[in-house]
Parts: sequence; C-alpha cells; structure tokens
Amino acid sequence: MACLFYSSCALALAWSQTVLAAPDLSPRATVSLESWLATETAVSLNGILDNIGASGAYAQSAKAGVVIASPSISDPDYYYTWTRDSALTLKVITDVFRNGNLSLQTIIEEYVDAQANLQTVSNPSGSLSDGSGLGEPKFNVDMSAFTGSWGRPQRDGPALRAIILIDFGNWLIDNGYSTYAISNIWPIVRNDLSYVAEYWSQSGYDLWEEVNSMSFFTVANQHRALVEGSTFAANVGASCSWCDSQAPEILCYMQTFWTGSYINANTGGGRSGIDANTILASINTFDPEATCDDITFQPCSARALANHKVYTDSFRTVYSLNSGIAEGVGVAVGRYPEDTYYNGNPWFLANLAAAEQLYDAIYQWNKIGSIDITSTSLAFFQDIDSSAAVGTYSSSTSTFTDIIDATKTYADGYISIVQAHAMTNGSLSEQFDKASGAELSARDLTWSYAAVLSANMRRNGIVPPSWGAASANSVPASCSTGSATGTYSTPTATSWPSTLTSDTSSTSTSTGSVTTTATTITTTTTTTTTKTTTTSSACTTPTSVAVTFDEIVTTSVGENIYIVGSISQLGAWDTDSAIALSASLYTTTNHLWFATISLPAGTTFEYKYIRKNSDGTVTWESDPNRSYTVPSKCAVTTATESDTWR
Ligand SMILES: *[C@@H]1O[C@H](CO)[C@@H](O)[C@H](O)[C@H]1NC(C)=O
Ligand SMILES: *[C@@H]1O[C@H](CO)[C@@H](O)[C@H](O)[C@H]1NC(C)=O
Ligand SMILES: *[C@@H]1O[C@H](CO)[C@@H](O)[C@H](O)[C@H]1NC(C)=O
Repeated sequence: MACLFYSSCALALAWSQTVLAAPDLSPRATVSLESWLATETAVSLNGILDNIGASGAYAQSAKAGVVIASPSISDPDYYYTWTRDSALTLKVITDVFRNGNLSLQTIIEEYVDAQANLQTVSNPSGSLSDGSGLGEPKFNVDMSAFTGSWGRPQRDGPALRAIILIDFGNWLIDNGYSTYAISNIWPIVRNDLSYVAEYWSQSGYDLWEEVNSMSFFTVANQHRALVEGSTFAANVGASCSWCDSQAPEILCYMQTFWTGSYINANTGGGRSGIDANTILASINTFDPEATCDDITFQPCSARALANHKVYTDSFRTVYSLNSGIAEGVGVAVGRYPEDTYYNGNPWFLANLAAAEQLYDAIYQWNKIGSIDITSTSLAFFQDIDSSAAVGTYSSSTSTFTDIIDATKTYADGYISIVQAHAMTNGSLSEQFDKASGAELSARDLTWSYAAVLSANMRRNGIVPPSWGAASANSVPASCSTGSATGTYSTPTATSWPSTLTSDTSSTSTSTGSVTTTATTITTTTTTTTTKTTTTSSACTTPTSVAVTFDEIVTTSVGENIYIVGSISQLGAWDTDSAIALSASLYTTTNHLWFATISLPAGTTFEYKYIRKNSDGTVTWESDPNRSYTVPSKCAVTTATESDTWR
C-alpha cells in the first residue's frame, strides 16, 4: 500500500494542506524508550488484530483472514487488502506465534485460507491459469477484484506471500503437522514460486506503487523466496526445478543495483534511487545464520551499512524536524528524499526499518564474533565512532564492544523518533509531519504496527529462522534474465487441527519426503473451515526439560555471570540465589557463558543475567526482563536459549 495512485494522490495532497495544524497527541518522550516499547508492542499487536477481518474492531466487513492496510476510508482510502502489506504483517505475526503466542493460530490459518481464495480471483492483472493474476497488488476486503486504475502488476507480492507461508509451513513440519504443510501450504506456495520464476525479469510497479521498472526490494525478496522455496519443496516431498534454475539468475541481477556507494532502488523513476526500499529489502532478507555477505546484502554487510548511511543522510536536510542533528544520531526518515506524497514526510515504518537493520547487524556481529570495517563501510562506522578505522575487530577487543554499544544507541535513536511522534495512546498512522511532527495520512496503519513488533524483536535478539542465504550467495559466471515455467493450480485446502500445539502424535520431519495421511481436504472457496482434532498417542511429554542458557558476554578476570529469574529454580529474583554460568567454553573469539538447568516443562518465566564483579557488586542487564517458556513437547527433553548481554 502507500501512495494512492493517479487522481487519489492529488486529492490527498490537497487535503494535507488543510491539516498541518492537526492536534499533536505525542507524549514528547516523557517515559524511557524501554517502558514506551513495553506498552507500544501491546498496542501494536492489538492494532494489527483490529485490522484483520472478520473479528478485528476496524475490519468487521472484511472476510476472515483479510488484512486491511488501515481503517481509513477517505483521505486516503486504504480500506483494501494489499498482498504485500498482508504478507509482511503475517510474517511478524508468525514470529510472535513461533515465540510462544500460539493463540495466534486462528489468525494465521484464516490468512492462509484467504490467500488460497485470493489466488483464484481473476483481476485486471490476469488470472491464475497463466499465473498473471498473482501480480495484482490489492483486492476489495470481500476478496473481490479491485477494478479501478492502479499501478499494476506489482511482482513483490507473490514472493512475500511465499516467504511467510514457507515460514509457517516449516513450523508445521517441525511440530508434527507435515500433512497440513503438504495439503494447505504447498499448493499456494507452488503458485507463487511459479509466478516468481516465470515473471521476475519483467518490470512492474515498486512497493510504493509509483515507479514501473525493475526494483531492488522486489528482486531481493524474489531471490529469497526461490531459495527457501526449493528447500521447502523438498521438505514436503516435492521439488521446484524452476526455483533452482532462476534463483542464481536473480542473485546475479541483484548485483547490478549496487552503485558503488549505495543500493539503487529502481532501474526507472528518474530519481536518485536512494530509498527505504533497499533498507526494507535488507531486513526482509536478513538471515541470522549468514555472515556479513555483500552478495545477499545482509544487514551487517559493508554494502548495506554504506547504504544505510547514504539513505538516512539524505533526509537530514529535507525535513526541518532534523535540523541540527549530527550524523551518527538517529533522524526522521521517509520513503525517499524526492517524495511529494502529502508533501513528502517521514514514515514510521521507515524509521523502524532503519533501526531494525542495525539490530540485525548487531546480532550478526555477535554471532560471528567479529566486526569488519572496510573502505566501503568506513564512513558508516566513523559516524558512530570517530576513531573507527579499516580492520577486523574480534569480540575480545574494546573496539568491538564500543561499536556494538554505539550501534545500539544509534539504532535506538531511530525508535526514539517514533516514540516522540506517536500519539499518547500509542496509535501510529503512516506518516508524521516533517515540520510539526504531527501524525499524517492513514490512521492506525497495519504496517506501522508490524514494523514496531519486528524492530522490537530484533532489538531483543529474537530472530527469524534462516532461509539459507549462506549457501545461496554464489553468483554464476554468466547471467541471463530469463524465466522458467512452474505449475499453477487451484489450492484445494483445508481443514486445520483444532489447536496447534508443540505436543502432537506425529514425528517431526524437516527433510525428506512425507506421506500424506488421511487429512480431510475441503475446498477453500467456501467461507467455513472444517476443524479436525488430532489425537495424541504413545509419545509422552516430559515433565522437565534441561534448558541450556548460552549468554555471549565479554568479561574480565574476576567477573562472573549468573542467571536470576522469577521462578524458584532461578532464585526468585534474589541475586544471592542466582545460578552461576560456566566460562569453560569461553575463548577470545567466543565469549560464551552457559548453564544447563532442569526446569518444569511449559513454565513461563522472566529472567535476566547479572554480572558479579570482583568487589562483590552486582551489575544487572538493562531492561526489559527477558521471558522464556520451557518447551512442553512430545519427547523434547532438552532446549537451548541463546542470548547476548544487554
Ligand atoms: C497473544 O495473542 C493474543 C491474540 O491472539 C493477544 O490478545 C495477547 O495479548 C497476546 N499475548 C501476548 C503476551 O502478547
Ligand atoms: C488513539 O486516539 C486516536 C484519536 O482519538 C484514535 O483514532 C485511535 O483509535 C486511538 N488508538 C488507540 C490504540 O486507542
Ligand atoms: C522485571 O521483573 C521485576 C520482578 O518482577 C520487576 O520488579 C521489574 O519491574 C521488571 N522489569 C521490567 C522492566 O518490567
């Protein structure tokens, strides 16, 4: 969603002139960022759920599982469902689900069912028979085609939808529900992967619905979708030859967007090409298992960091809100510096993305155990640490620690801007005024809320599963912009289990072929879904689990690390009863402290690590408290939680 196309843009612009003096409900940062985030994440989850049919407070006329972009029905009218916004939102919801909120099951299943239906709706972009209809950017909330003029097709939608469905499909496989991954997920994913492989080399509208050309955000997500699509196909006992043939070609094409100093967003459009498009691409293709790889533009890569500087600096002079703020300190950022939509203003989701890329980079540096500064990324590092110099700094050096701290502070600065311009009640619209800071354009924007949850999870070191970037970064010697043909068919899911739990009778299968057992298959074009119940059999759930806590923390001789938490096994917050971690695996490149503690299955608790200094004083990690739920899962007797000192 975003820029309203053609005549609506002009309308919106005219409207914006009259509301620059709108009441500013912002709280002006009277509470700490930590406490604001604690409430804002709850507001954001509610804000998303309010915008999903059929039970969302603002989406009651939308069909079940249909995500509206915003409740705003005029100036601008965003009361539609966009394939892109919906997929990005459900990706975040699936992250929250995977990390313990299993009550989101129904929302995710209803989204899957809605997408199965939407794929079959013929529209001005085409139909499912040759895949062309999958490039349609938005639909009416009753799932009928939107037939007005619009910037179409938009080719990122199918890739983004495949990414979220694969994510949920892999969760199903890992938790014993393979039959549902096969019957309900794969047919939808196969259509989307087929679309990507067939049409990726043709131009389309960018994510802001304005420029018709090739676009970095689109191709980066297309590459990711085909790479993990191939693995997912194997996991459901199928294959995706069209993924395998086109993924390397797309990767090759992606390289052409690197200008030498930043990532060009679009091949057309007649602008600088400096655009949040590229930051969003980097965070959406972040792979926690990858290195700081330039080829896949990982968040910590020299290219992505150089790009972050060029992008954020481009707004320092165009918004008066930013005047007097030095480089290396967070500022308000928007879509692109030449933007004129609503007169061109900062966007909440852009600020959150600028922060998220840096949290991702911190995760990657800690995981790798070193930071590389190259001539390409030097200017980025010098902004946050004036003494930064080209070199490799292992986690045992003070430079490493200084840069991690400075990057965290810098990233938090971008979130603080969001805090400063959010409404007192936490509501986030699409934009905030570049001079007054007052909220502008569509109210309660679903994507703004999704961006809060995503940035906050990365800030807390909660990362999504790997998509295989580390083994998909080899550029062929010669490249072509071709296509490959897959398969299009009407998805015929679905019944779902009445409850998804981690405790099922099926065995976990992440690889190899899977046999489909008697699953009731019903057509999705009906609006009702048959719920079935899975039964448990022989495999029992253990009553306790040996949980290993890994904490990466740099210590000096005489300092010791402990874990303390809300349950008696972790000392009930009494630092004298805290459990000591071991440094027996601590090395100069891997600052690992760990402890394995037997905990009751299914228990949820809060905890923190503490440092006991040689003089007996205690240093606590910064807020918020960490939270963990001990697995309660058939035959699972061990678990590992990986944390980094904060
Ligand atoms: C879990 O999700 C439900 C919606 O299904 C929401 O109401 C609840 O607040 C969430 N719980 C937490 C701890 O976020
Ligand atoms: C916050 O207040 C605004 C303006 O009154 C309102 O539109 C919005 O729904 C409120 N948001 C929440 C989360 O209560
Ligand atoms: C962490 O937990 C302790 C003990 O329950 C509580 O006093 C403290 O306020 C919590 N901190 C935050 C930031 O919620």
